[in-house]
Amino acid sequence: MTADYDTLAKTIAALTEGETDQVALMATITCEVHHADDRFDWTGFYRVTQPGLLKIGPYQGGHGCLVIPFDRGVCGAAARTGEVQLVPDVEAFPGHIACATSTRSELVLPVRDASGKVIAVFDIDSNQPDAFTDQDATVLGAILTDVFAR
Ligand code: SME
Repeated sequence: MTADYDTLAKTIAALTEGETDQVALMATITCEVHHADDRFDWTGFYRVTQPGLLKIGPYQGGHGCLVIPFDRGVCGAAARTGEVQLVPDVEAFPGHIACATSTRSELVLPVRDASGKVIAVFDIDSNQPDAFTDQDATVLGAILTDVFAR
């Protein structure tokens, strides 16, 4: 099963309409995205809880590391640079943090609020190599902007 992004975006918009609680929004998006595509083996948020530090938020899948400093991992790179990290081979990414040894590829998107401040990152891991596309990044990025920057 691969994600039907039009339906996924409409479902998330309907489920999150009028909601402003970030944990409720993150939990809902994580659930809908995780179950939308067989490529997605771990799906979740890391929240900026203090300058330079990420702490785990709602997620689905196996164990997720609890704390990630901005200078570490793919998640740290996304938070530090504010840029999408599309990683076809995690073994080739310097400083990749392996919360699960089965992960082969990864996509991490910065999450911004209405002021443009990075408040979290959205992380998806796959056990398949080179699993993610630019379209995944673009569509999921638009969903996150619609929900967190409104
Ligand atoms: N691999 C991430 C850490 C989080 S796990 O994927 C859930 C990283 O390198 O930042």
